[in-house]
Amino acid sequence: MKITIIGAGYVGLVQAVCLADFGFNVTCIEKDPEKLRELKFGRIPFYEPGLEDLFRKNLKSDRLKFTDNYLENIPYSDVIFICVGTPPKKNGESNLNFVDQVSKEISKRIKGYTVIVSKSTVPVGTSKRIENILRKKNSQKTYDVVSNPEFLREGSALEDFRRPDKIIIGCRSEKAEKMLKRIYKPLNRPYVVTNNETAEIIKYANNSFLATKITFINEIADLCENIDAEVETVAKAIGLDGRIGPKFLHPGPGYGGSCFPKDVKSLIYQGNKNLTDLKIIKAVDKANELRIQSLFKKIKKITKNKFSNIQIGLLGITFKPNTDDVRESPAVKLAKSLSKTKAKIKIFDPKGMENAKKELPKSIKFCENENEVIKNSSLLVILTEWNQFKNLDLLNVKKLMKKPIMLDLRNIYSKEITKLGFKYYSIGNN
Ligand SMILES: NC(=O)c1ccc[n+]([C@@H]2O[C@H](COP(=O)([O-])OP(=O)(O)OC[C@H]3O[C@@H](n4cnc5c(N)ncnc54)[C@H](O)[C@@H]3O)[C@@H](O)[C@H]2O)c1
Repeated sequence: MKITIIGAGYVGLVQAVCLADFGFNVTCIEKDPEKLRELKFGRIPFYEPGLEDLFRKNLKSDRLKFTDNYLENIPYSDVIFICVGTPPKKNGESNLNFVDQVSKEISKRIKGYTVIVSKSTVPVGTSKRIENILRKKNSQKTYDVVSNPEFLREGSALEDFRRPDKIIIGCRSEKAEKMLKRIYKPLNRPYVVTNNETAEIIKYANNSFLATKITFINEIADLCENIDAEVETVAKAIGLDGRIGPKFLHPGPGYGGSCFPKDVKSLIYQGNKNLTDLKIIKAVDKANELRIQSLFKKIKKITKNKFSNIQIGLLGITFKPNTDDVRESPAVKLAKSLSKTKAKIKIFDPKGMENAKKELPKSIKFCENENEVIKNSSLLVILTEWNQFKNLDLLNVKKLMKKPIMLDLRNIYSKEITKLGFKYYSIGNN
C-alpha cells in the first residue's frame, strides 16, 4: 500500500514516521521549502521527544520520503492523509484554505481507487466539501473521503500515536473502512466507526470537554484562594470519583496551544451556524481569555503595582513542557502584558526560545539558563512545568534573587518553601 501524507507538521510528520515504521511506503508532501530542506537533510523542524531518532531510522530504510511534488505521488497513492493546518479566523471559524488547496491538487491527479483521509481538525461538513471538490474533476467516483481525527498531544506524540484511546473512522464506505483498519492494525486499539459528520464533531466535543475541565478547576482554584481552601486537595478528591477522573484537573494559567483555543472557538462558531447556542463552551472560552488579565492583576498585587526598577524572571514560555510550540501559549500572553510595564523581563525556556523570539517584543531578555533569569529578579514566575524547573536548588535561587518571591503558576512547589525564606504564591492556595 502506498501512503501519501500532506503537511509535515506535528501531526503529519508523526503519522508519516510511525506508518513508515510499521513497514508502509510513505511519502510526505510539504510545501514550506525551509521545512522540506531540513527534512531532506535528516533534521526535524520542531522538537518532539523521540521523533528524531525514529525519523532517521526510517529515512535510512528508504520507506520514508519527502517532496513538494504532487504530480509524482498523488496518482500512485492508495491512501492520502491530509494533515495541513486549520487555523482560526477572527470570528472563530476554521480557515479551510489549506484543506481546499490540497483537495484541488488531489482532485486533478488521482488515478484509480484512492482513499482521502482528513486528519486535520475540520468542522462538520468538511468531508462533503472535499468530496465536492473531487467531484468537479472526477466524474466517476473512484475515491472515498474519510474523517479520521487525530488526538495526539505534543510532547508525547509518539506514545499517543502508538497507544491512542480510540481510532475514529468516519466514512460511508466499507472498502475505505477496511483500508484504514489495515493501516492501523499494528496499533490494536478500539475503533469507533461512524459517518463523516459524527467523526468530525467528535474531535471538537473531545477537545472542548477537556478545555472545560481545565477551566472548571481554574475557577474552583480562584474560589479556593478566597476561602482558605487548597485546590490541589479538591482536585485530588473529585478526581478520585470515577465519574470525573483525575486528568485535566490541574489548575494553572489557562489552556493554550494550537488546538484547544481554536477548537473551542470553532465549536462555538459551528453551534451558531447551526442555530445551537453552546452556552457552556462560550463561557469556557470567555473564562480562559480573562484568565491572563486576572493573573496579571495577581502580579500587580504581589509587586504592589510597582514595576519601576524591578526585574521579573519568567521560567517557561511554551504552552506545556516537552514541546517547542508557543502557539496560543498563556506564558507568551502574560510575558507580553508584563513587557508593557516598566519592569525588566527575563525569560528562559529549554526548547521554546526560538519560537518565542518571533512572538515577543525585543525589550524582553532571552537568557541562556535558569540562573541567568533568577539572578537579581525580585519576582520569579514559573509558567511551564518543565522537569528541570521542578528541582531548582532553592537555596541557590534565594541567594541569586534580589527578593525571594515566587509565583508558581503550575503549583510545582508548595508553601514548604516559605520555611527557606521565600514568599510563595501559587494557584488556588492562600
Ligand atoms: N499539533 C497538535 O497537537 C494537533 C493534534 C491533533 C490535531 N491537530 C490538527 O492537525 C492539523 C495539523 O496540525 P499541526 O499542528 O500538525 O500543524 P502544523 O502547522 O504544524 O503543520 C501543517 C503543515 O502543513 C503544511 N502545508 C500547508 N499547506 C500545504 C500544502 N498545500 N501542501 C503541502 N503542505 C502544506 C505546512 O507547511 C505545515 O508544515 C490541524 O488541523 C490541527 O488542529 C493538531
